[in-house]
Amino acid sequence: MASERIRNKEVMKKVVSAAQAASLIKDGMIIGVSGFSPSGYPKDVPLAIADRVNSTGEKMKLTLYSGASVGSEIDGAWAKAGIISKRLPYQTDNELRKSINEGLTEYIDMNLSIMPQFVNYGFLPKVNVAIIEALAITEEGNIIPTTAVGNAATFVANADMVIIEVNEHQPLALEGMADIYTLENPPFRKPIPITHPGDRIGTTYIPCGLEKIAAVVMTNSSDKTRPLGPIDETSKAISKNLIEFLENEVKEKRLPENLLPLQSGVGSVANAVLAGLCESRLENLTCYTEVIQDSMLDLIRCGKAKMVSSTALSPSPAGMEDFRRDIDILKDKIILRPQEISNNPEVIRRLGIIAMNTALEVDIYGNVNSTHVMGTKMMNGIGGSGDFSSNASLTIFTTQSIAKKGDISSIVPMVSHVDHTEHNVMVIVTEQGTADLRGKSPKERALAIINNCAHPDYRPQLLEYLAKAECCGGKHTPHVLCDALYWHTRFMETGTMKQKI
Ligand code: COA
Repeated sequence: MASERIRNKEVMKKVVSAAQAASLIKDGMIIGVSGFSPSGYPKDVPLAIADRVNSTGEKMKLTLYSGASVGSEIDGAWAKAGIISKRLPYQTDNELRKSINEGLTEYIDMNLSIMPQFVNYGFLPKVNVAIIEALAITEEGNIIPTTAVGNAATFVANADMVIIEVNEHQPLALEGMADIYTLENPPFRKPIPITHPGDRIGTTYIPCGLEKIAAVVMTNSSDKTRPLGPIDETSKAISKNLIEFLENEVKEKRLPENLLPLQSGVGSVANAVLAGLCESRLENLTCYTEVIQDSMLDLIRCGKAKMVSSTALSPSPAGMEDFRRDIDILKDKIILRPQEISNNPEVIRRLGIIAMNTALEVDIYGNVNSTHVMGTKMMNGIGGSGDFSSNASLTIFTTQSIAKKGDISSIVPMVSHVDHTEHNVMVIVTEQGTADLRGKSPKERALAIINNCAHPDYRPQLLEYLAKAECCGGKHTPHVLCDALYWHTRFMETGTMKQKI
């Protein structure tokens, strides 16, 4: 019933079709959408905008702000229609990736906790229209979010007008999961009162108010989340190595029995790592993270995780079906916060988060590339990995030791792009083993990474590189720059890294 979802009679009068709402969007506007990894994003209005452009040939160039990745209804459809002139702060869509790598869309790949303050400080152009997906609109005109919070509260507060998509597909039982807390700008900012992942500090709605609501569209469709691949042997081996490392930290009394709150990145390897925790001896875990994937829900179900704080609930399509079935058991153990809070450096440092993210490649000194394939082509973006890895108590990166069926080594002399520096990275885990970099000098790190993490096929080449660099490339962080750069060039020339340098 629409009145359960739209709880104010005046707002009910603002219900229009998606095409009518889309007519409010004009060329050159800055659009801020709800949504994160890809959950809780608006669907029908963005599709109606793309349809309008495709059918009329109208000139339309928009700047698109979001929380993180959104579904193909926005990034895919808009990239195909050539609408997105500038995009920030994160994406994972194939069409949009193509547009970025062909130079058709300007992309600003940002730390996710920084984006909202760039908007609030006026460092970025102001949002003209916020398009927000809602579970319901309250009597006062406030917005109950669906499966993600992301930057929705920031965009609503900064936008000239707000279009709300009320998605009847999402069960009303989700209401209550959100915890919306906003920050003052400096010098008035106060400490964020979170000392445990389960602390609730805000409201269950995004403040909006009746005045700002320009249009409401009723929708009924699911988030287009990504299916997860089956957990393969390599991912299982990475998970096993990582869990052994954590268990040893407990044994050595560097971590408490129930660890510290866990943050886990996205993708199949990250999902496998958490799946392994269900089988481990570790108990009473908590998570303070940005995305909830399938295995994190399983951690709650198997009784291992007591509380999970995030900004997005983004299981695979199958995982979402399971979530909807178990919603009453799971709901009380999940809090969805704005990304300014879920990824906040102050809270991450206070809680002592264990950050576990995925690298594309790692160099022998511990610098990590998470974003640029061969140094030039954007994959997804840094996402929240920078927020967590630079502030966590324990910063771990996982990767398979080889990519592209062994033609590429993920351990390289020098990363072709740096997202996370040697100053923040503490532990590297591959299916081959673990390199604990804490307290190690550059040369000690290089030996630990090559001997413990590199694939045996590439170890001799990497050791040969290190020996040559130590001989004639400096004594502190030895490099032979032309050889280091040739490492990647060789793949482009021959299609494999398996050659002598
Ligand atoms: N060089 C070139 N390509 C590489 C590579 C390397 N060293 N390592 C992996 N790849 C390719 C893979 O072959 C695959 O290509 P394909 O799609 O053509 O098959 C692709 O990169 C993805 O690799 P995969 O092993 O499937 O990775 P994943 O699903 O575990 O994701 C990242 C890995 C790094 C792309 C992903 O974790 C990411 O985007 N991270 C940055 C954002 C982030 O960390 N957010 C965390 C907070 S939620």
